[in-house]
Amino acid sequence: MMNARPVYLDHNATTPPAPEAVDAARKHLEEDWGNPSSSHVYGATARKAVLRSRETVAGMLGAAPEEIVFTSGGTEANNFALRGVARMSDRRKIVISSIEHPAVTNVADYLKRFHGFEVVSLPVDGNGVVKMESAREVIDERTMLVSVMHANNETGVIQPVRALSDLAHAKGALMHCDGAQSVGKIPVRVVELGVDLLSIAGHKFYAPKAVGALYVRKGTNIHPFVLGAGHEGGRRAGTENVPWLAAMAEAAKLVMEKQQDDKTRMSGLRDRFEAELLAAYPRATVNGVSADRLPNTAHLSFLGLSGAELLARTPLIAASTGAACKADSSERAAGAVRFSLGRGTTGGDIDLALQSLLKSLRV
Ligand SMILES: Cc1ncc(COP(=O)(O)O)c(C=O)c1O
Repeated sequence: MMNARPVYLDHNATTPPAPEAVDAARKHLEEDWGNPSSSHVYGATARKAVLRSRETVAGMLGAAPEEIVFTSGGTEANNFALRGVARMSDRRKIVISSIEHPAVTNVADYLKRFHGFEVVSLPVDGNGVVKMESAREVIDERTMLVSVMHANNETGVIQPVRALSDLAHAKGALMHCDGAQSVGKIPVRVVELGVDLLSIAGHKFYAPKAVGALYVRKGTNIHPFVLGAGHEGGRRAGTENVPWLAAMAEAAKLVMEKQQDDKTRMSGLRDRFEAELLAAYPRATVNGVSADRLPNTAHLSFLGLSGAELLARTPLIAASTGAACKADSSERAAGAVRFSLGRGTTGGDIDLALQSLLKSLRV
């Protein structure tokens, strides 16, 4: 046990690939390594795997297979969404939120600096929820796109995406949602969210890193992201990453099979973690506690102690310090720690994490 690795409570950073995903990738690296564009049997086998992955990922999101464009992950999907629709519209205003990931904020910033877009950032309330009254003031007939994430990567707080979609559509704007953190943790159905574009990232739901997708609702006017030989319906050229797509299909299948159980189990463990920690150390606060949150995320502030300091004192836990969250909760968020549970997290992991944290807090 001396060399055991710390308890992994950082599943919002990345998840361990599911064994089924690894097996599928290995099969397409070692045996079925053909080019999906080839007309012989090697190609046909690879093509079938890509087709199956598209169908499975679409099924997970309640989309049609032709609405799925594979990408190299969440960052590329966000770039594709924002830059792709910016090319096709006469409108010049983009509305995002103050808690978006850099993979959205930096793209919006680029469109502002180099293409003259106005970018407006919606504030959040004390729980980290985008303020709808600000959205109602800001989203107008000049708005090209509204881009707000489904769940925040730091706090796990779920955003009012459906209401924002309705608002955007009422003004003739498109709605993009960064679903990198929600897929695999809560149900994500594009029709229920009312979005035109949705980004997903495989490595947040037990697929490998550097694979993901952008959902593009049928009829959405979007410019191709990578030009070449016409792969992905001409929208994102380049020979498909068959092993990773096959792996993502397995991961998506597992999401559909296990999500309900995972959700119940993780929220039970997370709630116990928070309750026991607060009972022993009342100077801690749970950020976003009154909002709808992901079932796996505990974002905690420790009065008088920075998150970085606490984690440095607690080598038996692998978690991360909160960086995001501005506006109303800036001071609390600056020192916060994000603990994010996963499918493999056990009650024993939580006991060990609590024990070592309380030791570090000298309780
Ligand atoms: C909310 C959010 N969006 C986008 C990304 C980027 O995804 P990827 O790592 O697949 O590029 C992340 C990952 O950290 C994320 O948390």
